[in-house]
Amino acid sequence: MPALRMATKVPPQLGCDVGQASPQELNVHSNPMNAGTTEQAGYPVSPLTQTHRETASPRPSRQTHPLGRYDRLARVLHWVFAVSIIYATVVGYTAGHITHTTWRLFLQHLNMSVATVLIVLFPLRLVWRLKRREPPPLPDMSTPQRTLAHAVHGLLYFTIAWVLVSGYLMVPQSYRFFGLLTIPTPFTRGPLTDELFLVHRVGCAVLGALVVVHVLAVVKHQWIARVPVLSRML
Ligand code: HEM
Ligand code: HEM
Repeated sequence: MPALRMATKVPPQLGCDVGQASPQELNVHSNPMNAGTTEQAGYPVSPLTQTHRETASPRPSRQTHPLGRYDRLARVLHWVFAVSIIYATVVGYTAGHITHTTWRLFLQHLNMSVATVLIVLFPLRLVWRLKRREPPPLPDMSTPQRTLAHAVHGLLYFTIAWVLVSGYLMVPQSYRFFGLLTIPTPFTRGPLTDELFLVHRVGCAVLGALVVVHVLAVVKHQWIARVPVLSRML
């Protein structure tokens, strides 16, 4: 079980948390089924997946991260971006339909303020993505699946940058950041800001589609293949 041994040995300070569980807690040595790859219902099952299926509850405790774990900063940034992007997408698509002007302007300014926080955090997330140590790859994943997962993650980064930059550049006048600061913007209303709005809209649609693919992939791993991938990001 090289993947599991590697995961439990990496110290948290190296970037990917693997928790404090003892071998007994993980039931690594005591489970005879861990002795090699076995088969279930005709399909080969890796020892790692088998260990989890047979010894852990459906949702592993926070102490046990048999698949490794993203470091704390990566996890915090992931969820700050995820919640903000989902919020900005829902409000972005609904705000235009709100007829009450005061409410519409309030929500649009709130949206721009939340998105501005992401503009500030994005360079940090990008640099950390390049510098941090990744958790070990997931077991039972073919090379094409791994390549696809990496491609979707890379595209998510690219599209987030696209939406943030176009969103900021298209705003034709300065706006208030949570009512505290005035943020200036470079262009006044005209054909250029109209074009940038189009670029923003296309970016939002692409980002929405990528997020759906990403979440479906997580659902497939977590609840269909029963590999507790979510615990790597919690
Ligand atoms: C706007 C929404 C989201 C974006 C932009 C996003 C983006 C990403 C990215 C780029 C990664 C790769 C790790 C990193 O560089 O941080 C990742 C990993 C992950 N995300 Fe999300 N995510 C979103 C929402 C979600 C949601 C809603 C879930 C839960 C259902 C989720 C669960 C995960 C998990 C479990 C991983 C780790 C995958 C692995 O272990 O390889 N994400 N996400
Ligand atoms: C990842 C971050 C962002 C997401 C997910 C997002 C999402 C959206 C969505 C879904 C729309 C509606 C598009 C449509 O009607 O087709 C929208 C519109 C808009 N966004 Fe963004 N946006 C983001 C970043 C920004 C930024 C950084 C700004 C400016 C600082 C901004 C300003 C606006 C404005 C002014 C509108 C037009 C609202 C309207 O006229 O109804 N957005 N955004």
